[in-house]
Amino acid sequence: MADISLSQITRLRGDVIIPGDKSISHRAAMLASVSEGISHIRNYSSAIDCQSTLNCMQRLGADIRSRGSEVEIHGKGRWSLSEPGNVLDCGNSGTTMRLLCGLLAGQNFATVLTGDASLRRRPMDRIIKPLVQNGAEIYGRQANRLAPLFIRGTSLSDVNYELPVASSQVKSAVLLAGLYATGNVQVIEPVRSRDHTERMLTFCGVEVQRDGAVISLGKNRQPTARDFQIPGDISSAAFIIALGLMVPGSRLTLHDVGVNPTRTGLLSVLRQMGAAPELLNERLVANEPLADIRVTSAPLKAAEIGGSLIPKLIDELPLIAVIATQAQGQTIVRDALELRIKESDRIAAIASELKKMGAEIEETEDGFVVEGPTPLHGAVCRSYDDHRIAMALSVAACLADGESVIRDADCVGISFPEFFKILKKIAA
Ligand code: S3P
Repeated sequence: MADISLSQITRLRGDVIIPGDKSISHRAAMLASVSEGISHIRNYSSAIDCQSTLNCMQRLGADIRSRGSEVEIHGKGRWSLSEPGNVLDCGNSGTTMRLLCGLLAGQNFATVLTGDASLRRRPMDRIIKPLVQNGAEIYGRQANRLAPLFIRGTSLSDVNYELPVASSQVKSAVLLAGLYATGNVQVIEPVRSRDHTERMLTFCGVEVQRDGAVISLGKNRQPTARDFQIPGDISSAAFIIALGLMVPGSRLTLHDVGVNPTRTGLLSVLRQMGAAPELLNERLVANEPLADIRVTSAPLKAAEIGGSLIPKLIDELPLIAVIATQAQGQTIVRDALELRIKESDRIAAIASELKKMGAEIEETEDGFVVEGPTPLHGAVCRSYDDHRIAMALSVAACLADGESVIRDADCVGISFPEFFKILKKIAA
């Protein structure tokens, strides 16, 4: 796998187009495949993970025609998918595997889902339990905890579940299974997680009610084809925003970025830290808010992050560790135990690698503590084959004195294949 060498950047300038949101792209591909009619998806994510979803849907019989970021899906309704002749490969994508479990639980055929070594280590019982509890038949390795997973489609009546931890993947899997249920469908989420599934179901004509923590589906469970415009991925934009704030003399504008409030925890934290990322041209497209984001470099102070904010910035936490190394004071992240079961143990990975660059960071069980500011120095770091660790370390490397090498950095393609190209362009 490819390593990348990076050194300090002195100033960033320009306009940036961020590729389509990964979470929303997965959902659009799945919902359009079971909709009635022709859906057009514009700005579909270039992430390898989203290609995994398209491949799986194609293998399930969906009529998908894609050209770059333009995807056309000829949907023939909820019952149009068919039994694949072989195992479906979800690659590195937890969202593909978990959402597909929901979508496939109520079909009249069987499916086997697998993935790469990292995905085969990640907990799938969080999906299997709620679905099986509601009548699904799903089996996995190690007492139904790990993939490969075998799903024998069954008929579902009522589907009810109260989430023990905030997880949009679990919530979405249950709601997608609910499309095939004949009875009531209700999910209770104690802490609000990203709501792209609810928004997209509504956009496609399936009624979704929210009453406090309770989400329920209306009687019409057949989605209708739509034109989707996928916003730029805020979780990819995050790395560029952070660089724009920390590299002195920078000024960047990122265009058409998704600013769904269940995803913008990083922007709230940055405001708390003294930065002022500006949102311009805010609008709602295909039921998702988007805006242009303008950033100028600013001095930062430490922040305390925990509680209900965590799901709104879960994927940005490794980057927040890097930002904290440049902020004045002690930054504390807590309530983020979920970080340990992402594509890698992100608490252990970011702490061990940032230390190599001179950061003062200590792991806690459910987060980390960073003392700042500390000057970073170049080092040879591991990516743990985790895209967000590779990009967070790349941001650190752009701030560090001397050259850094990030090992196995090509994993950035999992969510943001254009990352290094964009970095080079705005640093020029
Ligand atoms: C995702 C939800 C989050 C996030 C992941 C994508 C989604 O996971 O970390 O990258 O698209 O629903 P959880 O909902 O399991 O926390």
